[in-house]
Amino acid sequence: MAPYHPPTGNRIEKMRLDFNENTVGCSPGVLAFLREKLTSEGLSVYPDYTSVKRTLSDFFHVSPDEMLLSNGTDEAIQVLVNTYVDDGDEVLTLRPSYAMYRFYAEVAGAKVVEVGFGPPPNLDFPLAELIGAITPKTRAILVANPNNPTGTAVGIAEIEQLLQAAPQSAVLIDEAYFEFHGVTALRLIGHYPNLFVSRTFSKVYGMAAMRMGCMFSQAANVQFLHKAQSPYSVNSMAALAAEAAVADTDYVANYVAGALRARAMIREGLENLGIQYAPSGANFILGYFGNRAIEVRDRLRDKAILVRDRSYEIAGGVRITAGTPEQAARVVEELIAIWSPQS
Ligand SMILES: Cc1ncc(COP(=O)(O)O)c(C=O)c1O
Repeated sequence: MAPYHPPTGNRIEKMRLDFNENTVGCSPGVLAFLREKLTSEGLSVYPDYTSVKRTLSDFFHVSPDEMLLSNGTDEAIQVLVNTYVDDGDEVLTLRPSYAMYRFYAEVAGAKVVEVGFGPPPNLDFPLAELIGAITPKTRAILVANPNNPTGTAVGIAEIEQLLQAAPQSAVLIDEAYFEFHGVTALRLIGHYPNLFVSRTFSKVYGMAAMRMGCMFSQAANVQFLHKAQSPYSVNSMAALAAEAAVADTDYVANYVAGALRARAMIREGLENLGIQYAPSGANFILGYFGNRAIEVRDRLRDKAILVRDRSYEIAGGVRITAGTPEQAARVVEELIAIWSPQS
């Protein structure tokens, strides 16, 4: 296995357009709620999820037994793979996509089969190829919608085709960027016993440090998932924070509106410079910077702006998070300076 070491060091007080997090932080309501609720006694006892389960199942319009709380989406992926995939089984995913799919599949001893997105610049969702790659050994299919790092979004009709083509596989639709796209497979769980949908508090909710996520599926599946999960993997602070986070719907709506404006500004900035990019349904844009990708990342870093080089998997690719419009204006300004002929 190749180790996975995301560059998470030294990011404080920089403009963090590199991990698709909320670039201004969580709702102030989350901090206030934590201050109010955190007590010495509360910290001394093992977590009690009664309240958070009620709040989140109401918020997501599912029954509590259709929901698994997890230590970030990452743990949800791990639990799903550990539940359904045995040594030598196949796990099907896309390329490029979220690195932890391959990671947990390999830890479980699975054979990872990857299907590439369509050609640049559009990187379309390869539905026919994905369905064509399903074999009797495919135990799990892991899809991010929208996908990271491409931003590619796929519609519900296509997801249903995939679910119908893979009745013997656990199909995960990872909706880490749902709030920026608005299309969800969550309402399908009653119809498809092979469907699993995940959500995270690490992106729009600004709580990546908390490690909090949820996975949804039919109740019988969730019972199986629980068997492969520690009963206390979500800590009490994360559970408290999640309750406060979903209560502040205005905060999320405002942040999303700003991020979508920022995305449009980055798109326009790239177009003005003649730089191509992939269409994105998420809070980031993958631009094609040719053989200057690393230089662009490094020169932005010199200006305390962090973006993510992805040229090792998509030629020339640099992924830029859309945060606030002010941040977008700043990164575009620096890109203009880097791209100008005299620079
Ligand atoms: C598609 C996708 N899923 C999940 C995650 C991580 O989620 P979490 O922080 O909840 O583990 C990311 C983070 O980059 C992501 O891009």
